[in-house]
Amino acid sequence: MKKELTIHYTQFSRLTDLGLEDQALLVEAREQQANAYAPYSKFKVGAAVRLENLQIIGGNNQENAAYPSGLCAERVALFASAARFPNVKIEALAIYANSKNGNTVLSPCGACRQVMQEYESIHGTSYKVLLMDQDEKITLFNSSSDLLPFAFKLG
Ligand code: THU
Repeated sequence: MKKELTIHYTQFSRLTDLGLEDQALLVEAREQQANAYAPYSKFKVGAAVRLENLQIIGGNNQENAAYPSGLCAERVALFASAARFPNVKIEALAIYANSKNGNTVLSPCGACRQVMQEYESIHGTSYKVLLMDQDEKITLFNSSSDLLPFAFKLG
């Protein structure tokens, strides 16, 4: 039997098209980019998580001379959030990076998607994922699971 999966996402062309909370989260992700440590790839990424208790926790990619030891911005932010507030649900994750050409939607790597979806699973709620580039081109997914169908789950 053939089956089909459809995902929905929304694109905006400027920050002010979003609600104030999401605007603020994307601005935080953009500010977080400045502290990325990316001397090897020179590709800086910023991220920010908004929790249900309204805490905002930022992160950025952190590279290392032993390349695989580095970590993406999304996971730095998500792990920091979970380390500090393990039982607080996530409302939204914002990610900011510069795109090379205006047509490509910047979107998280596969390993980050796996981590993103597990926090939805353990909290039993989905959260928004907001992506933005330097031109304020924004892509919104209503669930991180939209970015990873058939995620690996134990049990
Ligand atoms: N990177 C992120 O921080 N997030 C992503 O979703 C993709 C890639 C980082 C990892 C590495 O430091 C640099 O960008 C180049 O891959």
